[in-house]
Amino acid sequence: MSFTNRDVISINDFSKDELLSILKTAKQLEKKPQPSLLQGHIMAELFFEPSTRTRLSFVSAMQRLGGSVLGFSSTTGTSIQKGESLWDTVKMAEHYADVLVIRHPAEGAARLAAESSKKPVINAGDGANQHPTQTLLDLYTIQKSKGTLSNLNIAILGDLKFGRTAHSLVMALADFNPTFTFIAPDALQMPTRYLEKLKQKKVKYSLTDKMIPALKKAEIMYVTRIQKERFADPLEYNKYKGYYRLDKSLLPHMNKKLRIMHPLPRVGEIGENLDTTEHAIYFEQAANGIPIRQALLGLTLGKIK
Ligand code: CP
Repeated sequence: MSFTNRDVISINDFSKDELLSILKTAKQLEKKPQPSLLQGHIMAELFFEPSTRTRLSFVSAMQRLGGSVLGFSSTTGTSIQKGESLWDTVKMAEHYADVLVIRHPAEGAARLAAESSKKPVINAGDGANQHPTQTLLDLYTIQKSKGTLSNLNIAILGDLKFGRTAHSLVMALADFNPTFTFIAPDALQMPTRYLEKLKQKKVKYSLTDKMIPALKKAEIMYVTRIQKERFADPLEYNKYKGYYRLDKSLLPHMNKKLRIMHPLPRVGEIGENLDTTEHAIYFEQAANGIPIRQALLGLTLGKIK
């Protein structure tokens, strides 16, 4: 099992053992920080789409390992505005940095970047496709909270059509014998291509648009926002905006062991009055981005074996 120089494009590119190994590395880094592990290394962040958590936690992870960072957080002020292609932008960045982290609105953009670059490329989200580093921190959070990734009852709620974090998470958990409940309005349900993969792996799942029954059964509820930016028609988005909301009024319906996750940002799906309850683990989840991204940087740059 070697991660040196490997791209991190899709969660499907990693075996179950590899995923567990990355989580183990993150745990070690969290326990014993390595402030000079990546001294002399540079990470390029190429963000063609907005981000708070992913970009800042990658920057923080790199700096806490002694490395440095360059790049852009929007295309404003770059030559992309003059029409430079993604391919050429990546070709330049590979000479300026040792590892490239890319977020892009087009599905497949990270794979294309990896083809253009000789340096390792990490996908920080490509359109509605995948967000593998988010998934790794989601797995890490579940493992920390539940003590295991196996045999869990997991509900995933919201925009499952466009929600890339939901897609990557479902694919990663499929090898851990989960029971899934996918909760979404029909038009935003989990795409068939993911359901087909679950069928092939004989994973148990059900589809519904009802949230309340799952609050009693689930051990994890993974909430996602309706992905406004992916809707071609704003009127269509308005139909689903505010479709689900979890707040303290639903506490009587929640089983004691239910833990609520959200990749964030939230835009009304979870009321702030839930934040201080034992159910809320979404801020801890976001914080777990640091050890996970440190592990990925250390492994892909060959500094952790
Ligand atoms: N979870 C996540 O991807 O958040 P950002 O869009 O803020 O990076």
